[in-house]
Amino acid sequence: MDVEIMLRVDGSEYRLIVDTRTTLLDALRERLDITSVKKGCDHGQCGACTVLLDGRRALSCLALAVAHRGAEIVTAGGLGNGELHPMQRAFISHDAFQCGYCTPGQIVSAVGMLQEAAAGWPSVVSKDLAADGVVLDDEEIRERMSGNLCRCAAYANIVPAIAEVAR
Ligand code: FES
Ligand code: FES
Repeated sequence: MDVEIMLRVDGSEYRLIVDTRTTLLDALRERLDITSVKKGCDHGQCGACTVLLDGRRALSCLALAVAHRGAEIVTAGGLGNGELHPMQRAFISHDAFQCGYCTPGQIVSAVGMLQEAAAGWPSVVSKDLAADGVVLDDEEIRERMSGNLCRCAAYANIVPAIAEVAR
């Protein structure tokens, strides 16, 4: 069944007709040509398709486009409002990628993760939370970013890049 939906992506509104089975990932990539959102596994396992959905990181391959009509979607391309976001600059300065396929998802996820930590969300490795919230040491960053895989294993540079922005 086809339905008309409206999606807000990186500050722009799009109206499109989609099959109700269309994932948000396919709507973004195949219908709106927003290809910074990557398809890795298409099964919620790799994090390459991560977007911010109403401010929270989400896997767009596991979301149906019709379920998010009108939602505010931010991709790596929309993070910096036309300029490089500090997280993007940190990934460049730390050389935190090789092929780059996972990178947009890593960066969007990292931005969402910092917001979660700032809100005081604990993780499975969080010990005593400091009075002023989560301390994002390397162990916390690795755990909180564990949903984003990198086939090139650029983790050794990804963690310091995120830590720099966290500071
Ligand atoms: S493509 Fe969505 S988690 Fe891998
Ligand atoms: S940089 Fe190649 S998959 Fe991460």
